[in-house]
Amino acid sequence: MAPIVIAKSGGDPDLPAKLTTQVIVCSVIAAFGGLMFGYDIGISGGVTSMDDFLIKFFPTVYVNKHKVKENNYCKYNNQYLQLFTSSLYLAAIVASYFASMACKKFGRKPTIQAASIFFVAGAILNTAAKDLGMLIAGRLCLGAGVGFGNQAVPLFISEIAPAKYRGGLNICFQFLITVGILCANLINYGTSRLHPNGWRVSLGGAAVPALFLLIGSIIIVETPTSLIERGKKDKGLETLKKIRGVDNVDKEFEELLHATELAKQAKHSYRNLMKRSSRPQLICGTILQVFQQFTGINVIMFYAPVLFQTMGFGGDASLLSAVVTGLVNVLSTLVAIFTVDKIGRKKLLVQAAIQMLIAQTIVGAVLAVHLKSTNAMPSNYAIFVVILICLFVSGFAWSWGPLGWLIPSEIFPLETRNAGFFFAVSMNMVCTFLVAQAFLSMLCSMRSGIFFFFVVWIIIMGTFAIFLLPETKGIPIDEMNESVWKKHWFWKRYFDDDDGKGDVEIQAKPEEN
Ligand code: BGC
Repeated sequence: MAPIVIAKSGGDPDLPAKLTTQVIVCSVIAAFGGLMFGYDIGISGGVTSMDDFLIKFFPTVYVNKHKVKENNYCKYNNQYLQLFTSSLYLAAIVASYFASMACKKFGRKPTIQAASIFFVAGAILNTAAKDLGMLIAGRLCLGAGVGFGNQAVPLFISEIAPAKYRGGLNICFQFLITVGILCANLINYGTSRLHPNGWRVSLGGAAVPALFLLIGSIIIVETPTSLIERGKKDKGLETLKKIRGVDNVDKEFEELLHATELAKQAKHSYRNLMKRSSRPQLICGTILQVFQQFTGINVIMFYAPVLFQTMGFGGDASLLSAVVTGLVNVLSTLVAIFTVDKIGRKKLLVQAAIQMLIAQTIVGAVLAVHLKSTNAMPSNYAIFVVILICLFVSGFAWSWGPLGWLIPSEIFPLETRNAGFFFAVSMNMVCTFLVAQAFLSMLCSMRSGIFFFFVVWIIIMGTFAIFLLPETKGIPIDEMNESVWKKHWFWKRYFDDDDGKGDVEIQAKPEEN
């Protein structure tokens, strides 16, 4: 039987290292990639609720919206309007595949630079858009930016950060996504009064963080891992000394050399992932992303202003409500940063599933009773719905949001980590695309029933978290198979017959005394 893969990835928290200005500056610059992603998530909903934008690109939606007799739930039902939001994710799915190759072949820094060029191009196309084609082309460019950025930035940050700050920095990336969403909500609130081109300012606003990322990506360092991986060992050592702020980096350098060697041997990442013994991690990693999206979170993130207008709010009140939900999202993500390693993943996921279940059920019930096809909903009920939505968003933000990313990044052993994470990210983009493309049509046909659709999903994911998801809090990444999967009441069966059979043969690093 081939020896089990044991790699010292994840790093030793006791290695000599300072949290240098270099690391802080590079991380902040790179994290602007997360902010860009968040900005793109948050900006489309507010823009699609602006009349000037609808008149220019979606005149039929504009007419429907203002027809007194038009069905409340169908005001915004338009495939092209949904495509404006969803096209970004389509491009991101394709781009993340190329980005994973670019990261390996050319390095993290050029991949981040490519992301920022796509972001700038997308922002320019959108700001200058004369027709729907130009608008969608701009969204596709932004999607390519998201694909490149989301693949390279988390990798970049975790590779330059000293090991003991790695976990916290991982969730900080999610935190910046929520900050980006909030910025977009605030900008939409301001630009909705600028007629007739407020929407151009909103979409063009994306150029600011994009330019910052572009200029910043010229001054950031390449990661030592990437340099070593591409044969530039001396430069790797020099960079490592620079970013650690100490000369004594020999031990970490040696570990990096070793880890890179292992990664080279484990080149059949995709083939390894298809093995029976990889199924538990593959199923859990990808299904968490499916669940994350089918909580219905992006219905709120993309379409909150549209949803609030559906409930009878005026344009301003809708955009302001979106700002409130955006703020709740940011603050609740902070809760995750401080609790995830103390309370554990499962408890947060289950608690939040219950909270989201209650909130969505009541929203569905209130809309079913008080929002018929053509009436205006009484304002006190509408405010009650906004409060429930905040309750829902907060639950998501301290659980399924960050953990949907964190867990897939920590459950795969080295020989399947790249491929496994790529599948998880792609699954996220596919499901985000589906929700973005289908929601407004589903709202029109299912009316308030759409919220019960998400309730069913939340029941399924809560049950999954209780019975099938193992707790991974505090388990070193490289012990995950032995300590978690092989001991789990259900998943252990996948290790019974082909335990390690045919696994990539990688020698364990000799223990150091
Ligand atoms: C999700 C996004 C979502 C965001 C909301 C992320 O974890 O992947 O789809 O819009 O959280 O904060």
